[in-house]
Amino acid sequence: MNAAEALRALRLRPKAELHLHLEGSVRPATLVRLARAAGSPLFPDLAAVRARRRFDGLPGFLSLYRDVCRLLRSPADFALLARDLTARLRRERITYAEVYVSPAIVDRLGLDWLAVRDAVEAVFAGHERRGHGRIRVLLDAVRHFGPDAAHRVLDLHARHPWPRAVGFGLGGDELALPARDFASVYRRLDRLGLAPVVHAGEVGGPDSVADALRWLKPRRIAHGVGAAGDPALVRRLARSDVALDVCLTSNDATGAFPLPRSPVLALLRAGVTVTLATDDPGLFGTTLLGEYRCLARLGATPLELAAVARSGFRAAFAPPGRHQPPRPATGSARTRS
Ligand code: ADE
Ligand code: ZN
Repeated sequence: MNAAEALRALRLRPKAELHLHLEGSVRPATLVRLARAAGSPLFPDLAAVRARRRFDGLPGFLSLYRDVCRLLRSPADFALLARDLTARLRRERITYAEVYVSPAIVDRLGLDWLAVRDAVEAVFAGHERRGHGRIRVLLDAVRHFGPDAAHRVLDLHARHPWPRAVGFGLGGDELALPARDFASVYRRLDRLGLAPVVHAGEVGGPDSVADALRWLKPRRIAHGVGAAGDPALVRRLARSDVALDVCLTSNDATGAFPLPRSPVLALLRAGVTVTLATDDPGLFGTTLLGEYRCLARLGATPLELAAVARSGFRAAFAPPGRHQPPRPATGSARTRS
């Protein structure tokens, strides 16, 4: 089987995606509709949305993200995002997804978290009820909002647990505050039954990833490619159970790692567990299959593509369900065992 055949097979096969943000899943047409409804001149048409898909750094992207979030004015708007997201999961045969949903952003927008949560929950529950696959939530805080805002996310969850939430993550500007500032936040996760994840090694280098490992003890790292600059750290990751949820188009679009310079294949071949994801498919204009296509373009073999696809299920926080494909009897590419 060659890479093109492996990609064709992947298109049909059930897939898992562990790193995508609810707000970043907005379809361009929805963005235009939201902007019109809000009386905003920001996204008058699809061309205007597509014109904002390249950035001169993560801050530029986060500024777009802020613009998008400011258009969200009601729980119904969040339900629209959730519908865009589930429609894509169905279209792409993604039967298991872990989605970052951010009470910190809802709080900033002055909206009622429980009303937003219920609106999103109804869409996710409907998707599952119709047999399209499972969705789990990673409650998200924003690094540059600071540790107090992150604690508030956990306070909300402690008061009103969301059974769909299986983890807690920290997105936003990785360089704004050190991981150490959030150690007390992450210490609360175990008791709340939330698995730890963190965005690190997106624009930060090995020190940022090492700090995240030391202070936050994540089970997975969103991006993590910045670890590649330190061979000892790469060996440590390879020995560990920590998976990297890598987003190649996102890294290329933000300029964090232009695709030809992405170290993802080196990490994979060093034995690090890698999953592929879209991050913000609506804003970057990508698909999960598109991410696998990028990996193939970097030189991944069919076996490596299949190993990454399997890691998507194996690194998931929710227990295996009926949508998980059976384990292959053999397979020489390395994955977590
Ligand atoms: N939130 C949404 N996408 C993000 C990214 N790529 N990095 C940090 N925070 C984000
Ligand atoms: Zn992300």
